[in-house]
Amino acid sequence: MAEHAKRSPAVIEVSPASSDQESILANLLELYAHDFSEFHDLELGADGRFGYKHLPLYWREPNRHPFLVRMDGKLAGLVLVKRGSEISGNETVWDMAEFFVVRGYRRRGIGTKTAHEVWRRFPGLWEVRVMESNDSAHQFWARAISAFAGETIHSVCVEKRGEPWRVFSFESKGMP
Ligand SMILES: CC(C)(COP(=O)(O)OP(=O)(O)OC[C@H]1O[C@@H](n2cnc3c(N)ncnc32)[C@H](O)[C@@H]1OP(=O)(O)O)[C@@H](O)C(=O)NCCC(=O)NCCS
Repeated sequence: MAEHAKRSPAVIEVSPASSDQESILANLLELYAHDFSEFHDLELGADGRFGYKHLPLYWREPNRHPFLVRMDGKLAGLVLVKRGSEISGNETVWDMAEFFVVRGYRRRGIGTKTAHEVWRRFPGLWEVRVMESNDSAHQFWARAISAFAGETIHSVCVEKRGEPWRVFSFESKGMP
């Protein structure tokens, strides 16, 4: 049997990040911001970093939840979850604040598995926002959310601070 045929499927771990892992998240957020800077107006600071000023809040505020994603033990991405809608102000809604899979590991199902795992952990109403210009992420979310919900979920257009966004709303029933 060929070597690749014997390989077992990758193990995806989505683990809460502790405060001593803040610098790991900060490093991954730089890669994420760099990706976004291709189609969104983001500027580097004088130190050569984009920075993410809300990151420390993820260990100070109980309604924020930071995660690291690993594939077969190797760092593969990050997820930041917070409570409170950025659209309606509904404070009970879960918001996917940031979501990132590193480039070398994309299109292997890691994003989908990670998102499903996160939605199962936080039952209730969810919103996933995507910038209108981020067409590939929109396609990803449409597929991942509809598979999770078991029905087609369409996004709606909203404008926030003068910018066009698409928002998916759906419910998680938690762990099966
Ligand atoms: C969007 C992102 C999270 C997808 O992660 P991923 O691990 O590659 O996603 P998956 O492998 O689970 O993709 C599942 C399906 O989503 C769709 N999809 C994923 N990436 C896509 C892309 N670049 N273009 C079009 N469709 C895409 C495809 O239907 C894909 O299935 P296929 O590979 O069988 O065609 C990743 O590309 C990323 O981190 N992008 C930069 C950050 C970002 O935009 N985050 C979202 C902010 S709203």
